[in-house]
Amino acid sequence: MTKREIVVETAVRDEVRVSRASTLAIGPIRPAVPVVLAPMAGITNMAYRRLCREQGAGVFVSEMITSRALVERTPGSMLLIQSHPTESVRSIQLYGVDPVTVREAVKMLVAENYADHIDLNFGCPVPKVTRKGGGAALPWKRTLFRNIVEEAVKAAGDIPLTVKMRKGIDADHLTFIEAGKSAEGAGASAIALHGRTASEFYSGHADWNAIGELKAAISSVPVLGNGDIWSAEDAVRMVEQTDCDGVVVGRGCLGRPWLFADLEAAFRERAGEVTNHSHVQPTLGEVAITLRRHLVLLTEFLGDEGHASRDIRKHMAWYFKGYPVGELRAQFAQVTSLAHLDDLIVQLDLDAPYPGQDAEGQRGRQGTPKKPTLPHRWLDSQELSAAEQCVVSEAEIDASGG
Ligand SMILES: Cc1cc2nc3c(=O)[nH]c(=O)nc-3n(C[C@H](O)[C@H](O)[C@H](O)COP(=O)(O)O)c2cc1C
Repeated sequence: MTKREIVVETAVRDEVRVSRASTLAIGPIRPAVPVVLAPMAGITNMAYRRLCREQGAGVFVSEMITSRALVERTPGSMLLIQSHPTESVRSIQLYGVDPVTVREAVKMLVAENYADHIDLNFGCPVPKVTRKGGGAALPWKRTLFRNIVEEAVKAAGDIPLTVKMRKGIDADHLTFIEAGKSAEGAGASAIALHGRTASEFYSGHADWNAIGELKAAISSVPVLGNGDIWSAEDAVRMVEQTDCDGVVVGRGCLGRPWLFADLEAAFRERAGEVTNHSHVQPTLGEVAITLRRHLVLLTEFLGDEGHASRDIRKHMAWYFKGYPVGELRAQFAQVTSLAHLDDLIVQLDLDAPYPGQDAEGQRGRQGTPKKPTLPHRWLDSQELSAAEQCVVSEAEIDASGG
């Protein structure tokens, strides 16, 4: 192992575990299993990343941080770049539309030692972002895209810089092969593909064939597959079906951070390191313990129990999916403090067993396909006009989510 190689450990067991279950190398980062927690705005903050890392190995990426806000050192962005001392690989995702601002944000993260890995988000389908040419609309403008990745790679130096994207704007404007090759040429250390176009939002099914096509087109860096992994079996199936080098898991772990234990076990089983791995099938009491710990970690992260209690409300439906929670469900969704949460937890049937299928399957955002909202005549050319340049410069304002 070279000096800069980092083997990701499983945090709770507090030991470095070298494994054959992964050949994934994101620059010097070699996770024990080829699993990445997807960046999710409002979700994958330091608290949630800790909770997931306590369950299994992988790379755990921050929610997206707007490069302009970071360069301006806004309090919100300065909070989001914080990592816990136990995070051996600090992965930060940036969102940006301007090569100079992205370069300055990357420089800052590197110079001030905030990150071991930086990811760039080109997958956001939210109208308020694509309307200005940002997010998933951006790779269509091939020179701008290339310039952003090139500047970021240069500024990152030894730190691996990766790119996350969607298939394209819509079925008639697919960009993933061209953008993937462009990012590879610009020096990106891995390329992650969510197998949907911007116009699909989260509807239908992710197109895993596109992940296979990208893998076949990219020879020198890993390709990570993303979209619709709801179980460890789905993750292994994606790798086998597409030959991708690793998986990126988003909505599937909402309210179930223990999915990372299943994922680690499944990839170790695939590598012949364990046999007949069991799935984590928590009782309602065990779910409550994890939920409570989530609130404790969020309080530590936000430094304010009231704020943390409001923030955790969005996770309640995910934690309790399929469990017999009855009328308490509405009260959990209004929790105001740790003591309040404890009062509610003791009213649950803590011995209620894992509900099986009812707790599995799709969760989180779904949505219906929509025509993407783009700047006027955006699709006319793959190069950026002077007028479009002005529109794009506004795309970082109020951006959130992917
Ligand atoms: C609540 C939420 C927030 C998200 N925020 C981001 C983000 O900040 N950056 C990003 O690249 N993708 C973001 N995404 C997209 C996910 O990273 C992922 O690409 C997408 O959910 C598909 O993967 P999945 O099917 O495993 O969920 C977000 C998704 C969700 C559901």
